[in-house]
Amino acid sequence: MEIVVSGIRPTGNLHLGNYFGAVKNFVKMHEENDCFFFIADYHSLTTHPTPENLHGNVKQVLVEYLAAGLDPEKATIYIQSDVPEVTELYLLLNMNAYLGELERVISFKEKIRKQPNNINAGLLTYPTLMAADVIIHKAAKVPVGKDQEQNLEMMRTFARRFNRMYKVDYFPIPVAYNFGQSLVKIPGLDGVGKMGKSEGEGNAIFLVDPPEVIRKKVMRAVTDTGPTQMNQHKPEPIQNLFTLMSVVSSKETVTYFDDQYNNCQIRYGDMKKKLAEDVIAFTEPFREKAKELSSNNEYLRKVAEKGADRARASASKTIKDVREIIGFKPF
Ligand code: TRP
Repeated sequence: MEIVVSGIRPTGNLHLGNYFGAVKNFVKMHEENDCFFFIADYHSLTTHPTPENLHGNVKQVLVEYLAAGLDPEKATIYIQSDVPEVTELYLLLNMNAYLGELERVISFKEKIRKQPNNINAGLLTYPTLMAADVIIHKAAKVPVGKDQEQNLEMMRTFARRFNRMYKVDYFPIPVAYNFGQSLVKIPGLDGVGKMGKSEGEGNAIFLVDPPEVIRKKVMRAVTDTGPTQMNQHKPEPIQNLFTLMSVVSSKETVTYFDDQYNNCQIRYGDMKKKLAEDVIAFTEPFREKAKELSSNNEYLRKVAEKGADRARASASKTIKDVREIIGFKPF
Protein backbone atom coordinates (compact mmCIF):
# COMPACT_ATOMS: atom_id res chain seq x y z
CA MET A 1 0.00 0.00 0.00
CA GLU A 2 1.26 3.42 -0.89
CA ILE A 3 1.23 6.35 1.48
CA VAL A 4 -1.02 9.16 0.28
CA VAL A 5 -1.46 12.53 1.97
CA SER A 6 -4.18 15.02 1.24
CA GLY A 7 -4.95 18.38 2.80
CA ILE A 8 -8.40 19.89 2.95
CA ARG A 9 -8.93 23.61 3.48
CA PRO A 10 -11.46 24.35 6.23
CA THR A 11 -13.60 26.62 4.12
CA GLY A 12 -17.18 26.31 3.04
CA ASN A 13 -19.58 23.45 2.52
CA LEU A 14 -19.25 20.62 0.05
CA HIS A 15 -21.24 21.06 -3.14
CA LEU A 16 -22.16 18.47 -5.74
CA GLY A 17 -19.08 19.43 -7.76
CA ASN A 18 -16.77 18.71 -4.82
CA TYR A 19 -18.59 15.48 -4.17
CA PHE A 20 -18.21 14.05 -7.65
CA GLY A 21 -14.80 15.66 -8.17
CA ALA A 22 -12.90 14.97 -4.96
CA VAL A 23 -14.79 13.19 -2.23
CA LYS A 24 -16.04 10.24 -4.22
CA ASN A 25 -12.48 9.64 -5.40
CA PHE A 26 -11.09 10.02 -1.89
CA VAL A 27 -13.38 7.26 -0.74
CA LYS A 28 -12.12 4.96 -3.47
CA MET A 29 -8.53 6.05 -2.82
CA HIS A 30 -8.63 5.19 0.87
CA GLU A 31 -9.79 1.69 0.09
CA GLU A 32 -6.62 1.10 -1.88
CA ASN A 33 -3.93 3.10 -0.07
CA ASP A 34 -2.60 4.07 3.30
CA CYS A 35 -4.20 7.51 3.38
CA PHE A 36 -3.71 10.51 5.60
CA PHE A 37 -6.39 13.19 5.31
CA PHE A 38 -5.99 16.33 7.32
CA ILE A 39 -7.80 19.60 7.72
CA ALA A 40 -5.33 22.39 6.98
CA ASP A 41 -6.17 24.81 9.77
CA TYR A 42 -2.63 26.21 10.05
CA HIS A 43 -2.81 27.07 6.38
CA SER A 44 -6.07 28.92 6.82
CA LEU A 45 -4.28 31.48 9.01
CA THR A 46 -2.34 32.72 5.99
CA THR A 47 -5.50 34.33 4.64
CA HIS A 48 -7.48 34.67 7.90
CA PRO A 49 -4.95 35.53 10.62
CA THR A 50 -7.66 36.13 13.19
CA PRO A 51 -10.36 33.72 12.07
CA GLU A 52 -13.78 34.25 13.53
CA ASN A 53 -14.92 30.69 13.83
CA LEU A 54 -11.87 28.52 13.23
CA HIS A 55 -13.13 25.64 15.32
CA GLY A 56 -16.60 25.76 13.80
CA ASN A 57 -15.20 25.69 10.28
CA VAL A 58 -12.91 22.77 11.08
CA LYS A 59 -15.79 20.89 12.66
CA GLN A 60 -18.07 21.49 9.68
CA VAL A 61 -15.46 20.20 7.23
CA LEU A 62 -14.79 17.15 9.39
CA VAL A 63 -18.51 16.42 9.64
CA GLU A 64 -19.10 16.80 5.92
CA TYR A 65 -16.19 14.62 4.81
CA LEU A 66 -17.22 11.91 7.25
CA ALA A 67 -20.83 12.22 6.07
CA ALA A 68 -19.64 11.93 2.48
CA GLY A 69 -17.94 8.63 3.19
CA LEU A 70 -14.42 9.09 4.57
CA ASP A 71 -13.90 6.27 7.00
CA PRO A 72 -11.70 6.84 10.07
CA GLU A 73 -11.13 3.08 10.24
CA LYS A 74 -9.62 3.05 6.78
CA ALA A 75 -7.71 6.32 6.78
CA THR A 76 -5.97 8.56 9.26
CA ILE A 77 -8.14 11.64 9.51
CA TYR A 78 -6.70 14.46 11.59
CA ILE A 79 -6.51 18.16 12.19
CA GLN A 80 -3.20 19.69 11.06
CA SER A 81 -2.74 21.70 14.27
CA ASP A 82 -3.05 18.51 16.35
CA VAL A 83 0.28 17.41 14.88
CA PRO A 84 2.84 20.04 15.91
CA GLU A 85 5.67 17.90 14.48
CA VAL A 86 4.60 19.35 11.14
CA THR A 87 5.68 22.80 12.27
CA GLU A 88 9.14 21.59 13.19
CA LEU A 89 9.66 20.10 9.77
CA TYR A 90 8.24 23.31 8.27
CA LEU A 91 10.85 25.33 10.15
CA LEU A 92 13.65 23.04 9.03
CA LEU A 93 12.51 23.10 5.41
CA ASN A 94 12.27 26.89 5.53
CA MET A 95 16.00 27.09 6.21
CA ASN A 96 16.57 25.64 2.76
CA ALA A 97 13.80 27.46 0.92
CA TYR A 98 14.79 30.56 -0.99
CA LEU A 99 13.03 33.88 -1.29
CA GLY A 100 13.34 33.92 -5.06
CA GLU A 101 11.63 30.59 -5.63
CA LEU A 102 8.91 31.31 -3.08
CA GLU A 103 8.16 34.70 -4.61
CA ARG A 104 7.75 33.15 -8.03
CA VAL A 105 4.86 30.91 -6.97
CA ILE A 106 1.76 31.93 -8.91
CA SER A 107 -0.68 31.45 -6.04
CA PHE A 108 1.53 33.72 -3.91
CA LYS A 109 1.42 36.40 -6.59
CA GLU A 110 -2.35 36.04 -6.74
CA LYS A 111 -2.60 36.46 -2.98
CA ILE A 112 -0.48 39.62 -3.18
CA ARG A 113 -3.07 41.01 -5.51
CA LYS A 114 -5.99 39.84 -3.39
CA GLN A 115 -4.70 40.89 0.02
CA PRO A 116 -2.08 43.61 -0.55
CA ASN A 117 -2.27 44.67 3.10
CA ASN A 118 -1.53 41.25 4.47
CA ILE A 119 1.40 39.75 2.59
CA ASN A 120 2.61 37.73 5.56
CA ALA A 121 5.48 35.29 5.86
CA GLY A 122 3.03 32.41 6.18
CA LEU A 123 1.68 33.21 2.76
CA LEU A 124 5.17 33.29 1.29
CA THR A 125 6.07 29.96 2.90
CA TYR A 126 2.74 28.27 2.18
CA PRO A 127 4.54 25.79 -0.11
CA THR A 128 7.06 24.76 2.57
CA LEU A 129 4.24 24.06 5.05
CA MET A 130 2.51 22.06 2.35
CA ALA A 131 5.71 20.13 1.67
CA ALA A 132 6.06 19.44 5.40
CA ASP A 133 2.46 18.16 5.50
CA VAL A 134 3.22 15.58 2.87
CA ILE A 135 6.78 14.47 3.45
CA ILE A 136 6.32 14.22 7.23
CA HIS A 137 4.58 10.91 6.43
CA LYS A 138 7.11 10.05 3.73
CA ALA A 139 4.22 9.98 1.27
CA ALA A 140 4.57 8.69 -2.25
CA LYS A 141 1.48 10.42 -3.63
CA VAL A 142 -0.63 13.53 -3.29
CA PRO A 143 -4.01 14.05 -4.93
CA VAL A 144 -3.95 17.64 -6.15
CA GLY A 145 -6.07 19.66 -8.51
CA LYS A 146 -4.74 21.74 -11.38
CA ASP A 147 -4.42 24.79 -9.14
CA GLN A 148 -2.01 22.94 -6.84
CA GLU A 149 0.43 21.63 -9.43
CA GLN A 150 3.04 24.25 -8.71
CA ASN A 151 2.82 23.54 -4.98
CA LEU A 152 3.41 19.89 -5.75
CA GLU A 153 6.46 20.82 -7.79
CA MET A 154 7.75 22.79 -4.79
CA MET A 155 7.23 19.80 -2.49
CA ARG A 156 9.31 17.73 -4.82
CA THR A 157 12.00 20.39 -4.89
CA PHE A 158 12.17 20.62 -1.10
CA ALA A 159 12.23 16.85 -0.63
CA ARG A 160 14.97 16.46 -3.24
CA ARG A 161 16.95 19.33 -1.81
CA PHE A 162 16.84 17.86 1.68
CA ASN A 163 18.14 14.54 0.40
CA ARG A 164 20.89 16.28 -1.56
CA MET A 165 21.98 18.75 1.13
CA TYR A 166 22.25 16.12 3.84
CA LYS A 167 23.53 13.43 1.47
CA VAL A 168 20.76 10.97 2.26
CA ASP A 169 18.07 9.14 0.38
CA TYR A 170 15.47 9.76 3.05
CA PHE A 171 12.39 11.44 1.63
CA PRO A 172 10.51 9.84 -1.25
CA ILE A 173 9.79 12.40 -3.97
CA PRO A 174 5.98 12.65 -4.06
CA VAL A 175 4.04 12.46 -7.30
CA ALA A 176 0.47 13.38 -8.18
CA TYR A 177 -2.17 10.79 -7.41
CA ASN A 178 -3.86 10.00 -10.66
CA PHE A 179 -7.59 9.33 -10.52
CA GLY A 180 -7.63 8.14 -14.10
CA GLN A 181 -10.80 8.59 -16.14
CA SER A 182 -13.09 8.82 -13.11
CA LEU A 183 -13.16 12.61 -12.76
CA VAL A 184 -16.62 13.94 -13.55
CA LYS A 185 -16.95 17.70 -14.00
CA ILE A 186 -20.19 18.96 -12.55
CA PRO A 187 -21.59 22.09 -14.19
CA GLY A 188 -23.10 24.97 -12.23
CA LEU A 189 -26.65 26.26 -12.49
CA ASP A 190 -25.85 29.59 -14.09
CA GLY A 191 -25.55 28.22 -17.60
CA VAL A 192 -21.79 28.40 -18.07
CA GLY A 193 -18.84 26.52 -16.67
CA LYS A 194 -18.49 24.28 -13.66
CA MET A 195 -20.08 24.31 -10.26
CA GLY A 196 -18.21 26.45 -7.74
CA LYS A 197 -19.04 28.47 -4.69
CA SER A 198 -17.15 31.49 -6.01
CA GLU A 199 -19.24 31.61 -9.19
CA GLY A 200 -22.07 33.44 -7.53
CA GLU A 201 -25.17 32.87 -5.44
CA GLY A 202 -27.25 29.97 -6.59
CA ASN A 203 -24.70 28.41 -8.90
CA ALA A 204 -23.76 25.60 -6.53
CA ILE A 205 -25.93 23.05 -4.79
CA PHE A 206 -24.48 22.27 -1.39
CA LEU A 207 -25.00 18.80 0.03
CA VAL A 208 -26.36 20.32 3.24
CA ASP A 209 -28.80 22.62 1.42
CA PRO A 210 -32.34 21.99 2.72
CA PRO A 211 -34.80 20.63 0.13
CA GLU A 212 -36.59 23.95 -0.32
CA VAL A 213 -33.29 25.68 -1.09
CA ILE A 214 -32.39 22.98 -3.62
CA ARG A 215 -35.80 23.41 -5.29
CA LYS A 216 -35.36 27.14 -5.50
CA LYS A 217 -31.84 26.91 -6.93
CA VAL A 218 -32.75 24.30 -9.54
CA MET A 219 -35.91 26.12 -10.62
CA ARG A 220 -33.81 29.25 -11.21
CA ALA A 221 -31.19 27.45 -13.30
CA VAL A 222 -30.52 29.14 -16.63
CA THR A 223 -32.26 27.63 -19.67
CA ASP A 224 -33.27 28.94 -23.11
CA THR A 225 -36.48 29.28 -25.09
CA GLY A 226 -36.40 25.65 -26.13
CA PRO A 227 -35.44 23.63 -29.20
CA THR A 228 -37.03 24.48 -32.54
CA GLN A 229 -35.67 21.62 -34.60
CA MET A 230 -35.72 17.88 -34.06
CA ASN A 231 -32.52 16.41 -32.55
CA GLN A 232 -31.00 19.82 -32.20
CA HIS A 233 -27.61 20.24 -30.54
CA LYS A 234 -27.98 21.22 -26.86
CA PRO A 235 -26.52 24.60 -25.95
CA GLU A 236 -24.39 24.71 -22.80
CA PRO A 237 -27.05 25.65 -20.20
CA ILE A 238 -29.27 22.81 -21.37
CA GLN A 239 -26.45 20.30 -21.64
CA ASN A 240 -25.51 21.29 -18.08
CA LEU A 241 -28.95 20.35 -16.77
CA PHE A 242 -28.70 17.01 -18.53
CA THR A 243 -25.22 16.41 -17.08
CA LEU A 244 -26.50 17.13 -13.59
CA MET A 245 -29.42 14.84 -14.20
CA SER A 246 -27.12 12.08 -15.40
CA VAL A 247 -25.40 11.91 -11.99
CA VAL A 248 -28.47 12.02 -9.75
CA SER A 249 -31.35 10.56 -11.79
CA SER A 250 -32.13 7.16 -13.27
CA LYS A 251 -31.26 6.35 -16.88
CA GLU A 252 -34.98 6.20 -17.72
CA THR A 253 -35.49 9.74 -16.46
CA VAL A 254 -32.59 11.07 -18.50
CA THR A 255 -33.76 9.22 -21.60
CA TYR A 256 -37.31 10.48 -21.14
CA PHE A 257 -36.26 14.16 -21.08
CA ASP A 258 -33.69 13.63 -23.79
CA ASP A 259 -36.47 12.27 -26.06
CA GLN A 260 -38.67 15.20 -25.11
CA TYR A 261 -35.88 17.57 -26.07
CA ASN A 262 -35.25 15.82 -29.34
CA ASN A 263 -38.98 15.97 -30.18
CA CYS A 264 -39.10 19.67 -29.29
CA GLN A 265 -41.67 18.87 -26.63
CA ILE A 266 -39.57 19.50 -23.60
CA ARG A 267 -40.91 21.66 -20.80
CA TYR A 268 -37.94 22.83 -18.82
CA GLY A 269 -40.17 23.48 -15.79
CA ASP A 270 -41.06 19.79 -15.64
CA MET A 271 -37.49 18.72 -16.14
CA LYS A 272 -36.28 21.01 -13.37
CA LYS A 273 -38.97 19.79 -11.00
CA LYS A 274 -37.86 16.23 -11.53
CA LEU A 275 -34.19 17.19 -11.33
CA ALA A 276 -34.75 19.02 -8.04
CA GLU A 277 -36.52 16.03 -6.50
CA ASP A 278 -33.77 13.68 -7.64
CA VAL A 279 -31.04 15.94 -6.25
CA ILE A 280 -32.93 16.08 -2.95
CA ALA A 281 -33.24 12.29 -2.83
CA PHE A 282 -29.60 11.86 -3.76
CA THR A 283 -28.34 14.22 -1.05
CA GLU A 284 -30.82 13.20 1.67
CA PRO A 285 -28.65 10.49 3.30
CA PHE A 286 -25.78 12.97 3.42
CA ARG A 287 -27.88 15.58 5.19
CA GLU A 288 -29.08 13.05 7.72
CA LYS A 289 -25.60 11.76 8.41
CA ALA A 290 -24.16 15.28 8.72
CA LYS A 291 -26.89 16.27 11.16
CA GLU A 292 -26.31 13.21 13.28
CA LEU A 293 -22.53 13.74 13.30
CA SER A 294 -22.85 17.44 14.13
CA SER A 295 -24.63 16.67 17.34
CA ASN A 296 -22.23 13.89 18.31
CA ASN A 297 -19.22 15.76 19.62
CA GLU A 298 -18.11 12.74 21.57
CA TYR A 299 -17.69 10.76 18.34
CA LEU A 300 -15.98 13.63 16.54
CA ARG A 301 -13.53 13.97 19.40
CA LYS A 302 -12.74 10.26 19.20
CA VAL A 303 -12.17 10.46 15.46
CA ALA A 304 -9.89 13.49 15.83
CA GLU A 305 -7.98 11.97 18.74
CA LYS A 306 -7.43 8.69 17.01
CA GLY A 307 -6.34 10.51 13.86
CA ALA A 308 -3.98 12.74 15.81
CA ASP A 309 -2.44 9.75 17.60
CA ARG A 310 -1.79 7.91 14.37
CA ALA A 311 -0.54 10.98 12.54
CA ARG A 312 1.75 11.94 15.42
CA ALA A 313 3.20 8.44 15.57
CA SER A 314 4.11 8.67 11.91
CA ALA A 315 5.29 12.30 12.14
CA SER A 316 7.42 11.93 15.24
CA LYS A 317 9.27 9.04 13.70
CA THR A 318 10.18 11.24 10.75
CA ILE A 319 11.19 14.14 12.99
CA LYS A 320 13.44 11.88 15.01
CA ASP A 321 15.19 10.71 11.85
CA VAL A 322 15.42 14.23 10.44
CA ARG A 323 16.98 15.59 13.63
CA GLU A 324 19.56 12.87 13.48
CA ILE A 325 20.26 13.46 9.80
CA ILE A 326 20.73 17.19 10.30
CA GLY A 327 22.96 16.65 13.32
CA PHE A 328 21.00 17.63 16.41
CA LYS A 329 22.40 15.50 19.19
CA PRO A 330 22.13 15.15 22.95
CA PHE A 331 25.30 15.69 25.00
N1 TRP B 1 -3.22 23.92 -0.51
C1 TRP B 1 -4.25 22.92 -0.55
C2 TRP B 1 -5.52 23.58 -1.11
O1 TRP B 1 -5.61 24.77 -1.16
C3 TRP B 1 -4.55 22.36 0.82
C4 TRP B 1 -3.35 21.65 1.34
C5 TRP B 1 -2.57 22.04 2.37
C6 TRP B 1 -2.82 20.43 0.84
N2 TRP B 1 -1.57 21.13 2.57
C7 TRP B 1 -1.69 20.15 1.64
C8 TRP B 1 -3.17 19.56 -0.20
C9 TRP B 1 -0.93 19.01 1.42
C10 TRP B 1 -2.41 18.43 -0.41
C11 TRP B 1 -1.29 18.15 0.39
O2 TRP B 1 -6.44 22.88 -1.50
